[in-house]
Amino acid sequence: MSKKVLAPSTMLVPLPAVLVTCGGLTSDPNIITISWCGVVCSQPPMLSISVREKRHSFNLIKDTGEYVVNITGASLVKAVDYCGNYSGKDFNKFKETGLTPEPATKVRPPLIKESPINLECQIRKTLDLGSHHIFIAEIVATHVDESMITDDGRLDVQKINPLIYATHARQYWSGLSKLHGFYGLTREKK
Ligand SMILES: Cc1cc2nc3c(=O)[nH]c(=O)nc-3n(C[C@H](O)[C@H](O)[C@H](O)COP(=O)(O)O)c2cc1C
Repeated sequence: MSKKVLAPSTMLVPLPAVLVTCGGLTSDPNIITISWCGVVCSQPPMLSISVREKRHSFNLIKDTGEYVVNITGASLVKAVDYCGNYSGKDFNKFKETGLTPEPATKVRPPLIKESPINLECQIRKTLDLGSHHIFIAEIVATHVDESMITDDGRLDVQKINPLIYATHARQYWSGLSKLHGFYGLTREKK
């Protein structure tokens, strides 16, 4: 395999494309599309999002110390693109996208009803990394659409049909078509 050496870049593929809800303290809640989102700890359950300081959402997130990560499926692609191209400074993104806010149980920003999974987050640490700040948060409540859970209690990822984003190609993809096995497939069977 012949490879091209490029300048250092964040070429991690694929990434999620989630809708993060924020605000709700003194102003209307807002939605920002985020692909720089990842799991960082399991006990306690934690994740992070990285946000540029100039985003309208930045201060909304900082001021409440809370946000909700709303997982997206392919059916939400237009909302994902809209919330990633227009600012809450100028537009009410719930109104413009037709998405429905629902009260969260432990945080002030709302959940998005149309999203199959909502993760309520409380910020535990913030770091200024350069272009972005990372908000590391504990997941304090998880909501899952019941119809996305199989009879044996697993998450039906094919039903969610998660939307993924290829940053460098600037493309949205979906479609999980081939299951390659389960965790532990290489372990010796007793
Ligand atoms: C697919 C996609 C992923 C994005 N990921 C991020 C991200 O991880 N961090 C960030 O600061 N901005 C990201 N953006 C840009 C913001 O979503 C965009 O600037 C948005 O309009 C900011 O909204 P606001 O001004 O209401 O906060 C992304 C945009 C798109 C379309």
